[in-house]
Amino acid sequence: MISKHTYGNPFPTEAVVGEASQAQGDPSCGEVSLEEGFRFSCRMGADDAVYGLGEASRGLNKRGYRYVNSCTDATSHSETAFSLYSAHNFVVVAGKETFGLFFDYPAQITFDIGYTRMDTMTVACARADLDLYVITGEGPYDVVRQFRKLIGPSYIPPKFAFGFGQSRWGYKTPEDFANVADGYRNNKLPLDMLYMDIDYMQDYKDFTVNEEVFPDFPAFVAEMKRRGIRLVPIIDAGVKAEKGYSICDEGIEKGYFCTRADGSTFVAAVWPGDSHFPDVLNPEARAWFGSKYQILTDAGIEGFWNDMNEPTIFYTPELTAQTRANLEKAFQDGAYTPDMLRKPKTEDRGDYERFYHKTIAGVKRHDEVHNLYGYNMTRAAGEALARIDPDKRFLLFSRSSYIGMHRYGGIWTGDNCSWWSHILLNLRMMASLNMCGFLYTGADLGGFGGNATCDLLLRWMALGVFTPLMRNHAAWDTRRQECYQFENTEDFRHILEVRYRLIPYIYSEYMKAALNDDLIFKPLAFVYPEDRMSAQVEDQLMMGSEIMIAPVYTQNARGRYVYLPEEMEFVKFLPCGKISREVLPAGHHYVEIALNEVPLFIRKGKCIPLAGPAETVDAIDTEHLTMLGYSGEYEFYDDDGVHKDYTDPRNYKVLRNI
Ligand code: NOJ
Repeated sequence: MISKHTYGNPFPTEAVVGEASQAQGDPSCGEVSLEEGFRFSCRMGADDAVYGLGEASRGLNKRGYRYVNSCTDATSHSETAFSLYSAHNFVVVAGKETFGLFFDYPAQITFDIGYTRMDTMTVACARADLDLYVITGEGPYDVVRQFRKLIGPSYIPPKFAFGFGQSRWGYKTPEDFANVADGYRNNKLPLDMLYMDIDYMQDYKDFTVNEEVFPDFPAFVAEMKRRGIRLVPIIDAGVKAEKGYSICDEGIEKGYFCTRADGSTFVAAVWPGDSHFPDVLNPEARAWFGSKYQILTDAGIEGFWNDMNEPTIFYTPELTAQTRANLEKAFQDGAYTPDMLRKPKTEDRGDYERFYHKTIAGVKRHDEVHNLYGYNMTRAAGEALARIDPDKRFLLFSRSSYIGMHRYGGIWTGDNCSWWSHILLNLRMMASLNMCGFLYTGADLGGFGGNATCDLLLRWMALGVFTPLMRNHAAWDTRRQECYQFENTEDFRHILEVRYRLIPYIYSEYMKAALNDDLIFKPLAFVYPEDRMSAQVEDQLMMGSEIMIAPVYTQNARGRYVYLPEEMEFVKFLPCGKISREVLPAGHHYVEIALNEVPLFIRKGKCIPLAGPAETVDAIDTEHLTMLGYSGEYEFYDDDGVHKDYTDPRNYKVLRNI
């Protein structure tokens, strides 16, 4: 049951596409106060768990912290981070009473989940203009399923996007890309995508390619594709402010960039220097910006990643002037200290109060609709790609997002670090993101910042084997971390081989989840609601309907403790190509897992399909699958992975394990 409680004059975020009954009065599951903005509070029982929030720091159970949903260029994903890149305002309180809450509000909103008082959850925002959806059901899983229906179907990528991708900020020339391609192909390491970071562009200008470096870009794209590798370029939110650059000139002429209060085009510095920001909340401007993706699809590109779309702002003219004035004064007063050069955070600088959008609900100052920017930039691309080739699927994911964007693309979880704790964060986020509709998602494997070690990358990739988006990405100033950079390439080959052997299963589970508004990754408690211990498990997840995953995420560990709510078959993919199998009874176990092994657990009575090894997704032989696990049946979904013919009954097959 879903009821919608409307306060004030909510902004039409278009997050919700399903039905909810309009309620009168406040929800009975908590108290609402409209004294200072909007505030919802409820008591939490000692054993209540709170799930959701999508991309957020900390545990699967979000209790015990404060989360500020305000899309931020988050440079540190530490436990103390209040905000990351996205705003996913959905939580489920699960306990004696179970209910879901979606706060459809496009600006900053704070979820205090037992931070101020351990037994109280308070959700507050500055203006009382929002729709609050309250969902009741049989348990947390049921509540999430209803919510997922409410927000509409998740984005479906092309099948090649389930392959492995290599990325690095700093690949600049065709030779750089060719070297990485050679590194993979010569070492027989499977690879489907190479990601192009900002250096492919001319002076960081969106929809341009540095023509001196790439004199025949379409030929280069085609040559890579011939080698089975798709190039996936980045697109940034900021459009370089430069006379003579057609995108800039056109945007100004048509009034498609965000403006200042006086109507002049807003300028702020990001990578290209002074930049303008496409007003993607204006449907006309959104269609215009989206149409520019065709410049690259015409060159043979089939996928994009949208970045810096919180939007990140490095400097506004005000900040530069203020910093200069502060410094001059400090020098005069003899009070200079080096930290005066440090910038305050964007959200503390007032930058988001300096520009405006022409939205479907009239002119809005950016801070009032802040969390919708990345969503609408990606929507611009998604809608345009559907116009460019209506029956073709494109790869598309974003850094910043709001619920609703899950219909247009996926997300990656941004600038993590080569930290062991970020393997665990990656795992936990997968389930929370799925609850909010984001199915095509994954983290920068090996870590974006900091220096990866061989063991960290192996362990992280053994988790990445299961995430729909499987990409190794790192910053320019870090140790190289492509899979062939370490001494034991064969171990990486083995882990990637396991990924490709599992793709028929991963793809099948992805498609069934996307087509049925379901989750791929679930907390154990969603599947074993009667089992008290399952609710305590924070480092294992159910994946699809058949398996449980439990990665190793501590350095120097030779294995890990794992909890089995029921009997399961413990499977290890061994580097020799063999598979070890052992039936373990329900309960706690210590399982040994070597650095080069990939573990998974098959639920009692279930089985999964396995393909033979392949170096690209296209080369996977789905006609000759073997079955792994208990004897029984598996409902297998497959299609050509290119077109959108999802409902053809021939896409479903029953596979038997006898
Ligand atoms: C920030 C993104 O999060 C990161 O992945 C990318 O490499 C840099 N921007 C440079 O484009």
